[in-house]
Amino acid sequence: MPKIIVLPGDGIGPEVTEQALACLALLSEARGLQLTFQEQDFGGVAIDRHGAPLPPATLAACKSADAILLGAIGGPKWDTAPERPEQGLLALRAELGLFANLRPAHIVPGLEHLSPLRPDIVTGADALVVRELIGGLYFGEKVEGTEAASDLCAYTRSEVERIAHVAFQAARNRRSKLTSVDKANVLATSRLWRRTVIEIARQYPDVALDHLYVDAAAMALITHPTRFDVIVTENLFGDILSDALSVIGGSIGLLASASTGAPGTPALFEPIHGSAPDIAGQDRANPAGTIASAAMLLDHLGHPAAAAELRTAIDAVLLAGIRTGDLGGTATCREFGAAVRERLLQAIDQREQAAA
Ligand SMILES: NC(=O)c1ccc[n+]([C@@H]2O[C@H](COP(=O)([O-])OP(=O)(O)OC[C@H]3O[C@@H](n4cnc5c(N)ncnc54)[C@H](O)[C@@H]3O)[C@@H](O)[C@H]2O)c1
Repeated sequence: MPKIIVLPGDGIGPEVTEQALACLALLSEARGLQLTFQEQDFGGVAIDRHGAPLPPATLAACKSADAILLGAIGGPKWDTAPERPEQGLLALRAELGLFANLRPAHIVPGLEHLSPLRPDIVTGADALVVRELIGGLYFGEKVEGTEAASDLCAYTRSEVERIAHVAFQAARNRRSKLTSVDKANVLATSRLWRRTVIEIARQYPDVALDHLYVDAAAMALITHPTRFDVIVTENLFGDILSDALSVIGGSIGLLASASTGAPGTPALFEPIHGSAPDIAGQDRANPAGTIASAAMLLDHLGHPAAAAELRTAIDAVLLAGIRTGDLGGTATCREFGAAVRERLLQAIDQREQAAA
């Protein structure tokens, strides 16, 4: 029985997680997936209750899980605390060896007008950023003085190889196109990156590979987002490019993510937004990104049909005009979640009738 650890976290985290969990429970029941759920304290709430953002019991539970569903963590209450909630997330990623971060973004056909970009530019956009998550500049040696400071950017061949495999495999399951983003005209790590990606490409002759410098990639994401299928890049570039991609759908509340490690180890699924303290506790949060993260979790557990059913239900609800305030609508978080589950039940009914 697949074990899912649920980390609701802080701010809107518990609100959006509740809706995603209800969708997972419904699909588990309808499809006999036998998912089990166990909640643990994480983030600010864990600091309050246990004195640390990642208490030992939470870490142990996550290590024994098949998958982890996280809401969001952080908030002004802990901004000046000696240990911040975000340190718990960095520690969890490192402890679980979550080296690959996958962020998909697509424009729902019919909802192009919600994008800050022109409809003729975004129509058909559907891309996935695969970001290296535990190497590069963020994890290199840091020297911080009053007059000078430095951050070391280092990558090993094996670190590039393992993320390249994740990206090629993801491309194979999509439209078989991979763009590797680097700054090989300037950076030594980028030249290692490019050489290694080209070598790994020999194992994936069915995937079309091209390369872009990060500055050109940033422009192309805005001027020509439909040119991309899968993008693979290092930690810093991925952080920036995936945020740029995240806004093209119209709200940060729509976007899902997965962080994965070695095959067979637990993976972490979470919306890309934070704890949104400004709307927390008001039933106004958009739960679509967390529900879409639950769909990625289903894919990870080997249930692609259930995942597709969930994604279709989210898009159908958005298209029907049931939208939260971030997308200009009036639906509450609970109403949006309930509408997704209603669509799921309709789809399950239709499937059962067709099979009868
Ligand atoms: N992975 C995480 O848990 C994570 C990620 C980013 C930020 N944070 C933390 O969250 C806190 C707030 O950070 P922030 O304000 O910079 O970013 P944020 O994503 O929480 O909010 C940015 C803006 O987007 C809105 N928003 C975000 N998610 C939404 C949703 N689902 N529905 C509707 N509107 C939504 C918010 O209301 C806010 O106006 C900080 O403590 C930060 O450290 C946590």
